[in-house]
Amino acid sequence: MSMSADINTSTSASNTSGSRLIPFAVNLWLVEGPVVSFYGFPYPTRMAVISIPDSSMDTSTEVSKCSWIWSPISLDDELASEVERTAGPVKHIVSPNCIHWLFMKEWQDRFPQAKMYASPCLQERECAAGLKFEPVESFDEPHPSYAAEIDQTVFDGGWPKEVVFFHKPSKTVIFTDLIQRQPIESLTGIKGWIMKMDGVGGENGSTPREWRLLFRLGRKRDKARQTLDHILLDWKPEKLVIAHGQCEQSNAAAVVESCLHWIPPKHNEYRH
Ligand SMILES: [Fe+2]
Repeated sequence: MSMSADINTSTSASNTSGSRLIPFAVNLWLVEGPVVSFYGFPYPTRMAVISIPDSSMDTSTEVSKCSWIWSPISLDDELASEVERTAGPVKHIVSPNCIHWLFMKEWQDRFPQAKMYASPCLQERECAAGLKFEPVESFDEPHPSYAAEIDQTVFDGGWPKEVVFFHKPSKTVIFTDLIQRQPIESLTGIKGWIMKMDGVGGENGSTPREWRLLFRLGRKRDKARQTLDHILLDWKPEKLVIAHGQCEQSNAAAVVESCLHWIPPKHNEYRH
């Protein structure tokens, strides 16, 4: 279970060319952002940039590319130009859950032509005021404008609800907070101890225990199992991207199943 150390340890990582976009797969880059505070706990930020065919352009003469942005980090002029230079004009910006929205307004203001996509619950939240999201019929289906390259499904725990994405060409599954593998060496002091007790540290990190409890209390674990089976059996992911901690370049299906061990097998909802 290993991949480039650049992705795991630095908040200002850059590749050998000096770009902050670190190649993760063909047409998929990761960018490390600053650490933000979440109820006083330090959380490093990370976004993904995927270059996809631009369905809004006439592609009869040449293939046009555009950028699809997942969980955008804090934006500056340099990052904006690097993204567009590398992956194409920014046309799609997605928030995967109702926590990862913090920098959406910056991106909307900078790229007003881009479509913004909410996750379940986010659109109704007061914090989302001022964000203009695309209307969607179901968060379990990718928007037609990017569906050729990227699939998605929802882990519905009542609250929380998280949209998990799948970049089909590279077989990369993209989780946000449902799988957290915070670098164990970064979990220091009382807050680090609490995060370790919450089950979100190291290679064996998982879903925060309070989220697992919400799935259990809401009797949502059967549905979670269906969603997980869909990811593992239909998507067959090979690479794993997560927002907090160690990503994986291979063996993603086994890692995901191990990290989500709290979701019981089918028809055995209350086994443990
Ligand atoms: Fe997060």
